[in-house]
Amino acid sequence: MAVMSRTLVTKGAVLEVKDLRVDFHTYAGDVKALNGVELTVKRGEILGLVGESGCGKSVTALSIAGLLPQNAEVVSGEILLEGRDLLRLTKEELRLTRLGEIAIVFQDPATQRGAKGVPR
Ligand SMILES: Nc1ncnc2c1ncn2[C@@H]1O[C@H](COP(=O)(O)OP(=O)(O)OP(=O)(O)O)[C@@H](O)[C@H]1O
Ligand SMILES: [Mg+2]
Repeated sequence: MAVMSRTLVTKGAVLEVKDLRVDFHTYAGDVKALNGVELTVKRGEILGLVGESGCGKSVTALSIAGLLPQNAEVVSGEILLEGRDLLRLTKEELRLTRLGEIAIVFQDPATQRGAKGVPR
């Protein structure tokens, strides 16, 4: 997986992901989905994740948004949003952070539950 970024205004890191490891527990055994993801997004920077299908782009995004499915286990790592580790927040703190500071647009918004269609 490659990390590509474009800086508009350079300042401190807004988001830092350090050594993020995520496994999925399945009936067929454990899947090691993320094996040490590292990335930094500075203020004003746009960052893209590029890589082949199954390399972990969506799992990285879901980890940051706190939306991993129940069979996922964050084995190690830190997700620092302005220095606060999202993996160590209480459920309520995470809920408030998600409301105010993190949003996610899913891969195919037109088919998500509740979607009323994509404007032309
Ligand atoms: N709920 C799950 N249970 C088990 N394995 C999963 C689950 N979700 C994802 N995985 C596995 O995690 C790995 C990373 O998947 P991910 O969806 O992040 O890939 P991706 O890079 O987003 O691919 P694509 O480009 O197809 O969207 C894959 O091996 C995938 O099979
Ligand atoms: Mg994906």
